[in-house]
Formats: sequence, structure tokens, C-alpha cells
Amino acid sequence: MADTIAVADAVRTPRPVPPAPEPGTRELGYAELLLRLRSNPLTIWRRIHFERPIVSGKSLLGHAVVISDPAAIRHVMVENAANYRKDDLQRSVLAPGLGDGLLTAEGDVWKRTRRTVAPLFTPRAVAALARRMEAPAVATAERMARRRAGRVVDVTQDMTRVTYDILAETLFSDTIAGGASAFSKALTAYFETQGRIDPLDVLRAPAFVPRIGRILARPAIDFFEGEVIRIIKARREEIARGDTPDEADLLTALLKASDPETGVGLTEREVGANIVTFIGAGHETTANVLTWSLYLLSQAPDVRAAVEAEADATAGRRVDAALSGDDLAMTRAVVEEAMRLYPPVASLSRAAIEDDAVAGVPIPKGATVVIAPYVLHRHRLLWDDPGRFLPERFLGSAREAVDRFAFLPFGAGPRVCIGAQFAMVEAVLVLSTLVGALRFTYAGDGPPTPVQRITLRPRDGMPMRVAPRG
Ligand code: HEM
Repeated sequence: MADTIAVADAVRTPRPVPPAPEPGTRELGYAELLLRLRSNPLTIWRRIHFERPIVSGKSLLGHAVVISDPAAIRHVMVENAANYRKDDLQRSVLAPGLGDGLLTAEGDVWKRTRRTVAPLFTPRAVAALARRMEAPAVATAERMARRRAGRVVDVTQDMTRVTYDILAETLFSDTIAGGASAFSKALTAYFETQGRIDPLDVLRAPAFVPRIGRILARPAIDFFEGEVIRIIKARREEIARGDTPDEADLLTALLKASDPETGVGLTEREVGANIVTFIGAGHETTANVLTWSLYLLSQAPDVRAAVEAEADATAGRRVDAALSGDDLAMTRAVVEEAMRLYPPVASLSRAAIEDDAVAGVPIPKGATVVIAPYVLHRHRLLWDDPGRFLPERFLGSAREAVDRFAFLPFGAGPRVCIGAQFAMVEAVLVLSTLVGALRFTYAGDGPPTPVQRITLRPRDGMPMRVAPRG
């Protein structure tokens, strides 16, 4: 809580407490818990989860330990990470059609893939990719500026499109010939049908029992597989002909990458699984951060003015500013505060391989450990006035005082998000570009309702009026 004083000093205007489900006080029965897991897992958290460092007990998931104590989280995610594997629930919700990409792989396949893919996301590699992000960001601002004045639009759609365009550009140099919109439609269908927790997964039904969501998602997944494999084959041929430009996109980099320990590259199928993984992991997540950032700014005019001033001061050199961070400090702080209040990945879970204990609490073999950024980021013991939008928490010395294991939008330890830096640069660049050019006003009847599908997003979209700023 060392940030309290700095935050209090910085805030001269009252700041909003944006919407969040009110935590209940009573324990939920199995049927209600299942229902809520399917409709909105954010509503399962009770007050004790936001007040106690560790809550342990039996539930539908068997023995579950919900950990919101930074030292205990460090133990599970770093010090004793080898004792914890991604649990089947998370894997079954996330594993896309093409099999195991980096996000869902385990054991040796994960180790080999992570080693092979890591060089694609070094700061230097991200800086090169960042140059490709600017054109889609500017095109989005221009497209939004051309809309009829006063019209209400759902900005989640624009944010989904811009993060998709940026991925298409950085992954394939936008070579989804004629198929970009079909591809992105399939992607949306995939998230609509696949992105819910299926009760059969919670109940540990075996994989051969058909899940309705996954059956509905099948055509979308098939389309992906076909399209992705087609793109990979075409690119392989280009590389063989020596036709690829020097500035590699991620697809070329993946096809050329090899394990630094063994020199072995990825198979075509593995490249495909990782392409789908990057899209799945990097698309909606970043789109939601942008959507919530725009909403929060619309509720806090003084912060919006500061973000506008940074955008004006960095016009013409915004990519460099987004990479260094110095001149877009408030913009970056807004992105981090949006991820604190609405972490795109709202909960992480692991299964204990052997008996363990944290802070004197036993974690029996097979128990599920839940580390929920949504709970952690709003925990009474860790944050001052946790429900309030205060981006100053992430400025200067206040930022340095934030415990590494109290703020986990990108996870931590060996399985930390490989795209974290990519996503931060992207979100800061796009937010600054949009806020520099446009003024966003919230136009919903009531406040938006946050729900957790695969990512944490507004249930009914984000209706806003968008007008050119000047
Ligand atoms: C704001 C945007 C993003 C957020 C909040 C986010 C969050 C996360 C989190 C929490 C994890 C860890 C999951 C766990 O421990 O169970 C993760 C893993 C991962 N993310 Fe991200 N992510 C974002 C953007 C991206 C982007 C842009 C990419 C790729 C281009 C990406 C690729 C991955 C991959 C491949 C993993 C798995 C890493 C591994 O297990 O080795 N993410 N992400």
C-alpha cells in the first residue's frame, strides 16, 4: 500500500467506481455455481475472496485453493512452478482445433516450443513489429472519424477489428488473400461458441462426450485449420524461392525458427497451432483492454485530457513513444489500470502434481489452485480503494511500489504471456492514436455489465458516440 500517498496527491478530481458485480456473502450450491460459471464466472466470487489472502475448500472442482497472497502466488507460479500444470478445465476451454500451441502445451513440447518461439518476442523483435502496427491504428481512427456525427456505435467491434488487423499485418503481412473478413468472421464465431465454460468440462466428463459449444464451433475451427495451413504452405514456397522481404513477419519468423538447443524447427502443424494460438491469445484480450480503456476515459475527463495532451505531444513519433513509454506515461497507466479493473484473463488455474503448502495452507496432490487476477486486482489487502479508477497507481514511484505478484494481467513465471510487450506497445499506440483524433462518449442506458467469456468483456458491447476531436 505504499502507493497510497502518491495516488492521493495526484488525484484532484473525483474518479468513478466503474461497474463490477457485487460480491455475495453466501456459499453457492452446485447447481447455482454451474449456472454462474456458464453465464458469468465473475459472479461466483464472494466477499471473503476479496478479503482473505487464501480461501481453501471443497467445491465442484474438487479441492480448490484460491490464492491472492503475492508471496504464495510467487511460490506457485515461480519457485515451485514445476509442481503445477495447467489444469484440464483451462486446457479444454482454450485448446483450439489445431492441437497444442504454446498456450496449452505441457512438458517437453511446451519447453521446446517456448525456446523456439521466444526470440520472436524479444524487445528488439517487438520494436520491429511495432512499426507495422501504426498503419492499422491510423486507418481505424480515420474510419471511425468518417462515421455520421452523433451515431452510436459499438466500439468493441472497432477494437476487435483493429487488433485483428494488427495481428494480420504482424503475422502474415496481411496476406489472407481475399479471406480476411471470412477469417475474422470465423474467429468471432469461434469465440462466441467456444468461449464459454461448458458444465461438462467442470464435471470432468471425458473428452469424447460431445460439448454442444464445440460442435457449434466446428465449422469455424475447420475453416481456420484449412486457411491457416494454406497460408503456411504458400509462405513456405515463397521462402524456398527466396521471395520473402527482409523485414520478417511472425509467420516467416516461425517457419525459420529453430530450437537453440537442438537446431530443430517446428513442423507445419506446430506452426499452424501457434499461429491460431497467437490470434486466439492476442486478439480479444487486447481488444477488451482498449474497449475498457475508452470507457474509463469517457468517465474521467481530467484523465482523458492528460491522454489527449500526450497524444498531441507525440504526434509524428508515436511508435517510438509507445516503445519507450516515457512520453506516453499516462496513456500506459490507463491501459494498466484498465487491466487491473478488467483483466482480460480474469482467472488462471493450475493442478497440483504433488502435495504442497503455501503460507501454512496445505495444497493436496490433485487440488486445483486458482489465481484470479480479477480478485487479486480488487483485493482489499493489496490495493487502496480497489474499485476506483485511479491510473496514478501506475505512474512513477507508485508504479514501482506495486508488488509484481499483486498485478498479474499477463500471468507470471515460466508460463508468463509471451506477447506481453507486444500487447502493451499495441494497446498504448492504438489508444493514443484514437484519443488523439477522436472524442468518445458513453451512450449506454445504464453502465456496461462486465462478463467473463474466455476474456472479460462488456456483455452488451460498448455503445459510444464518436466524434472528431478538433
Ligand atoms: C492485453 C493482452 C493480453 C493479455 C491480458 C494476455 C494474458 C495472458 C496470460 C494471463 C497468460 C498466462 C496464462 C496462464 O498462465 O495460464 C498468457 C499466455 C500467453 N499469451 Fe498472452 N495476453 C495478451 C496478449 C497476447 C498477445 C498479443 C500474444 C501473441 C501475439 C499472446 C500470446 C500468449 C501465449 C502464446 C501465451 C502462452 C505462453 C506459454 O504458456 O508459454 N498474448 N497471456
